Amino acid sequence: MSDSFDSYVRSARLYFESAGKRPSAYVHTYGCQQNVSDGEKLKGILAAMGYEFTSDTADADLILLNTCAVRENAEDKVFGNVGALKKLKEHNRSLIIAVGGCMTQQRHIADKLRASFPLVDIIFGTNAARELPRLIYEKLTQNTGGTYLDGGEEISEDIPVLREDKIKAYVPIMYGCNNFCTYCIVPYVRKRERSRLPKAVYDEVKELIADGYKEIMLLGQNVNSYGKEHGVSFAALLKMLDDIDGEYKLTFMTSHPKDCTHELIDTIADSRHIEHHIHLPVQCGSDRILKAMNRNYTVESYTALAEYAKARIPDLSLTTDIIVGFPGETYEDFSKTLELMKKIRFDMAYTFIYSRREGTKAALLPDPVSDKEKGAWMRELLEVQGEIGLQNYQRYIGGTFEVLCSGRDKNKPEYLTGHSRQSIITRFTGPDDCIGKFVKVKITGAMPWAVEGELIQ
Ligand code: SAH
Ligand code: SF4
Ligand code: F3S
Repeated sequence: MSDSFDSYVRSARLYFESAGKRPSAYVHTYGCQQNVSDGEKLKGILAAMGYEFTSDTADADLILLNTCAVRENAEDKVFGNVGALKKLKEHNRSLIIAVGGCMTQQRHIADKLRASFPLVDIIFGTNAARELPRLIYEKLTQNTGGTYLDGGEEISEDIPVLREDKIKAYVPIMYGCNNFCTYCIVPYVRKRERSRLPKAVYDEVKELIADGYKEIMLLGQNVNSYGKEHGVSFAALLKMLDDIDGEYKLTFMTSHPKDCTHELIDTIADSRHIEHHIHLPVQCGSDRILKAMNRNYTVESYTALAEYAKARIPDLSLTTDIIVGFPGETYEDFSKTLELMKKIRFDMAYTFIYSRREGTKAALLPDPVSDKEKGAWMRELLEVQGEIGLQNYQRYIGGTFEVLCSGRDKNKPEYLTGHSRQSIITRFTGPDDCIGKFVKVKITGAMPWAVEGELIQ
């Protein structure tokens, strides 16, 4: 397999060299950090084939969309964006359009895309990066567009990566998900859980730190179940990585409450480099709905875990995900979510209205509550959470954060921005040479989503 991957990369390179023009690719990734990390590999492969990159679709010889399927609006966006490429394709018949990732991994979506959008040349799934050079080379030389969804579950360690950021590096530690939460499409499109070898992760992280990366974000759909096949827990992996010397921080996404152990919380509390932040999606505050979601924990066990974590890590920032309007959820269930929010007092909650995903168990359940009503519940939740977030952040005023400065604020470039060790967005004024460094900031003000302060020289 490796031979064929390498040989198609080489053939494409020679093809472009003999044509005497460097081809240009536009790559856009939708969805979660895991997908961004996949996108960095897709770009790594394209670069090895000879592509340069452009941020303008009009300049591109290849347009590649790396898609997400987690909610319906994510998919609608992609269909809209693909449709909008029609004009470009009419002007440039040799333009190659490729669509891959979680959305196209679903056979019914791949079929729909083929049928409705003949302008799409290549359709590929989530573990198909190794096939991309072949699919593109065949399109270039034989004009045969292909569909490839059968990527298997093998982990490839030799795929080149073109990192999007110079400060923060994504490191996937595992792929797939075995949890089958009844609303969720991810286990179907990302297949079964599999972990990279601890040594592979360790070597990569060590090299990234030596290369000057300041934040290493470990990725998995459920990092807490890392390493089962290798007999190394996520906490043990974190300890190994935390022992590497250097000035950097370790962050991770995402933790599932059912597998979040005291060992993990203790490891964070006692570490030198691990962020004091846990993103622990609770989804709902009603035991009845949690059961229907197949989440495998209760409000009581979740609360006990959150309390243990807050006691062990006094400056812990706890954030969460909430789904509003799961099929069969009543206002009474929803009001228990409000109660839980008030009890746990999350710093931040990412809230989503339930979206029906074809092929999941919840898609078969009756869903009588209207979208309008769910929207009203959502607004109530956002109001409660906004107030709690603001009050939480106000408690930091007067204190000092160590902030990894990531750059200028996109909307207000007079400010620098970054994340604190608690992963709280912190903005402040200062010179550009703070960018990419850990700096100390005295906190002077709070907003519901961030704090602001003054640089301590
Ligand atoms: N693996 C991660 C989350 C992946 S999806 C975890 O388990 O935490 C990110 C978030 O999207 C989920 O936490 C959930 O809140 C939301 N989500 C997933 N499927 C959804 C659906 N069908 N409708 C609405 N929100 C959904
Ligand atoms: Fe989806 Fe649940 Fe897996 Fe997260 S843990 S990816 S919500 S099935
Ligand atoms: Fe979306 Fe796939 Fe991530 S469905 S959220 S891109 S794993």
